[in-house]
Amino acid sequence: MGSSSSLLTDTFGRHHNYLRISLTEKCNLRCTYCMPAEGVSLSPSKHLMTADELYEIAALFVQQGVNKIRLTGGEPLVRKDFPQILEKLATLPVALTLTTNAILVDRFISHFAAAGLKKINVSLDTLNAQRFQKITLKDNFKQVKKNLKLLQAEGFEIKINVVLIKDVNDDEIIDFIQWTAHEPYNIRFIEFMPFDGNNWERSKTVGLQEIQEQISCHFGLDQVIPLTSAPNDTAKTFKIKGFKGAYGIISTVTNPFCDSCNRLRLTANGKLRSCLFSEEELDLLTALRAGKPIEPIISKVVNQKKAIRAGLEAPTNFEDPAHHSKNRSMIRIGG
Ligand code: 5AD
Ligand code: SF4
Repeated sequence: MGSSSSLLTDTFGRHHNYLRISLTEKCNLRCTYCMPAEGVSLSPSKHLMTADELYEIAALFVQQGVNKIRLTGGEPLVRKDFPQILEKLATLPVALTLTTNAILVDRFISHFAAAGLKKINVSLDTLNAQRFQKITLKDNFKQVKKNLKLLQAEGFEIKINVVLIKDVNDDEIIDFIQWTAHEPYNIRFIEFMPFDGNNWERSKTVGLQEIQEQISCHFGLDQVIPLTSAPNDTAKTFKIKGFKGAYGIISTVTNPFCDSCNRLRLTANGKLRSCLFSEEELDLLTALRAGKPIEPIISKVVNQKKAIRAGLEAPTNFEDPAHHSKNRSMIRIGG
């Protein structure tokens, strides 16, 4: 087992010790920024990794130096065999985490602690029930709030992912921060990113600078305390003096942090991607099923990784919709 393994080190010297695994392309919400309105054509279920295959691939990554695995989706908890998947992955020497919309948390929470899960990211873009319905096209707001309390009561460390979209929820930045006065949550404002079918426009992205300006204007610049972040953190984190929780900003659009990227993504149908924005992905699952070694494929993906946003370095080419239509929709990549 080598944390110094070169298989996962790219041509820029970045070591990839963090694997994000999407368990499913399905979701019980319909967030418009994630899922194209016309829906997505789902991979046939026989093309998805089984719990055993998923474990086998994950174990190989761990052997090569991965020490953090995040389970994502779609919504990971809609997978019926979630407890089995979790139980198997928990046997690996790795920090396991989960990103969920929290709707089904009450059903699975006993499995979380048993698997040693400590940190959970919950996607919640609004604190207003009606708006929740507008954004997600479902009415599970109360259930999500209830499950947040449940997670908190059980001692999980909670981050809340908020995708900010101009004129949709950017008027809630202060409300979210105010929430952290008494709740120990870490709110992460995520800049709205372009994916296939999500009607992205540059003008809908609320950027880091604008977010910080709103916050310092409201609370006073001297009340905003920068916190030190871990070397590979995607978010710059801060807290308001005296508040229980904290907040961070993930600025993929206005301020990419690719130079410290340590992430690889495995899609539910067993394809490996080096970046959210890459148009290429290579198939590990078909090779695994054919009894072929998957290390050379992993090596190829890692070695082809570009320095910044899969080659979309300049804001101009990042903002050109032509560069996103060949990408998957977010629901099929895994957040
Ligand atoms: N832009 C930014 N973040 C997104 N997510 C999904 N789609 C987008 C997008 N277009 C985030 C959600 C979720 C995570 C899995 O991915 O907030 O928390
Ligand atoms: Fe589902 Fe998450 Fe996509 Fe919303 S952002 S549709 S919760 S996968």
